[in-house]
Amino acid sequence: DWVKGIQENLICWYRQNHRKLPWRETQNPYAIWVSEVMLQQTRVETVIPYFQQFMEKFPTVEALAKAHEEEVLKAWEGLGYYSRARNLHRGAKVVAEHYGGRIPHRLKEIKKIPGIGSYTAGAILSIAYGQPVPAVDGNVMRVFSRVFCVQEDIGGEKTKKEMEKIGAVVIPPENPSFFNQGLMELGALICTPIAPKCIACPIFEACCARQKGIQHELPIKKKK
Ligand code: ADE
Repeated sequence: DWVKGIQENLICWYRQNHRKLPWRETQNPYAIWVSEVMLQQTRVETVIPYFQQFMEKFPTVEALAKAHEEEVLKAWEGLGYYSRARNLHRGAKVVAEHYGGRIPHRLKEIKKIPGIGSYTAGAILSIAYGQPVPAVDGNVMRVFSRVFCVQEDIGGEKTKKEMEKIGAVVIPPENPSFFNQGLMELGALICTPIAPKCIACPIFEACCARQKGIQHELPIKKKK
């Protein structure tokens, strides 16, 4: 059926077309956490060397938890948005103290950790733990708005919730990791904000916006 087609085509495309990135060599939940926090507001090429140095300096949750804040901020220097580093550090302390250094497997628990919102939680649970939890960031919102013709303002909290519902319905329990990463990769390489490369898209046939020829008009982002 329709959803099966989207899942299979996207995962198959991801296997063959994904960029080799350092955080894709691991399923260590801590490494996935660090990478996702860095990637939230910083470009992939910039993140690569920071991620590698950060993992050398603080290879485990415990190592990060024990570090002084100045050291953590020093490793973050140049990445910007330093509250991300402070939250990550605070989060590592919580995991070390309350969860024995193991990042929780349950959505309800993981979301209690400072700095882990629903996107980061979904990324860690799906990529590291293989759980069918959606990970909806700006890129994935753009993909979903087009594939499913979501015509609401993507800046709204309601729309985000709507997108996460869609994500929960379409994610395949057999391979949530490649599915979520496939969506991220599709948003980065094909389903771009300007001039989406629909002819190269693995889910072209299923795309509502493409069928209606309105891919350039989506997503709708109202000025605040
Ligand atoms: N953007 C957000 N998460 C990402 C990931 N895991 N790989 C590449 N780009 C991303």
